[in-house]
Amino acid sequence: MKLNNKKKFAIICSGGSAPGMATCVISFVKKCMSEGVTPIAFANGFEGLHDNQIVTLSNNFGLNFLDDGSALIGTSRCSKFREDTKYRKHCVEVLKRHGIDALIVVGGEGSYKGALDLAKLGVKVITIPATIDNDIPSTSYTVGFDTCLNTVCRVVSEVNDVFVSHHGIALIELMGKGCPDVTVRSAIANNATYMVTKYSKLKPEGFLKVAKAAFAKGKPNVTFLVTEKLYPSEGDKSLKAIAKWLEKETGCFTRHVVVGYIQRGGRPSARDRLLANYMVNIAVDQLLDGKYNKAICRKARKTTSMDLTKAVAMKRKSGNRPLVSIFNKINQE
Ligand code: F6P
Repeated sequence: MKLNNKKKFAIICSGGSAPGMATCVISFVKKCMSEGVTPIAFANGFEGLHDNQIVTLSNNFGLNFLDDGSALIGTSRCSKFREDTKYRKHCVEVLKRHGIDALIVVGGEGSYKGALDLAKLGVKVITIPATIDNDIPSTSYTVGFDTCLNTVCRVVSEVNDVFVSHHGIALIELMGKGCPDVTVRSAIANNATYMVTKYSKLKPEGFLKVAKAAFAKGKPNVTFLVTEKLYPSEGDKSLKAIAKWLEKETGCFTRHVVVGYIQRGGRPSARDRLLANYMVNIAVDQLLDGKYNKAICRKARKTTSMDLTKAVAMKRKSGNRPLVSIFNKINQE
């Protein structure tokens, strides 16, 4: 074991849980131990940091949980941290009290902003992207996205079994917080009939037209994959109401299916475990090299890092829009 001037690094998981967060924590412990750094964790995100919910970590920590789908040390969404400067300053005090040299924040967009807030107060931070939404502009992949996609693919296949049998119409609603990545990738992978995203919203009549055309082509069933939170809005019906209306219009078995929190659980895929492991190792290496206030990212098949302020300011350049229109067009022909 190397001796690293008794450095102490801490880790928190923050925001919505994502498969692979546990892998991040375990990789952190192993890497720190191998570098002679003392690893520390705070349970339950920024809230746990504020409340000094320290977790004792040792080389044995989580050894039975290498494939755990939870956040292992807990995570939370913490509105107080965002809204209250005093709350954030208290977090800094807790870190100082424990003599922590740097903090790794594992989480999504909101957690990145939180990490930047701490950086502005003088804390040395590095962020690891972990969210099923894949909506962090500075990285092509987030930890948890691949597992979520695999879960959605399996669930949609299983739902399809039912709707093929009944020659029915399924309106399957997917989590993704406004980011169509999960919808787009899983619609392609499952050969869905239509992907309904912020780029391709349908009126009830639109759903009817697509369904009728698919049945006219001899399809046994119809599958709409719909990103969450698009309905109801601007006087539109809810998806449940649209399903009811479609059933009346077509005479076909029609249901609104919500995949829900299944998307956020499950054993992390091999890809997510590897991504988590590479990212954490690079984060710790960077801290040891005296580099901080960075966001770890995956770009052009490389795991690397960029300035955190720039990462937070980035706007997402999505390639989804053309994919959505090509997919829906091809499927309608
Ligand atoms: O941020 C991840 C996510 O899965 C989003 O896709 C979704 O909107 C949200 O979590 C749901 O979680 P909550 O009920 O906590 O908002």
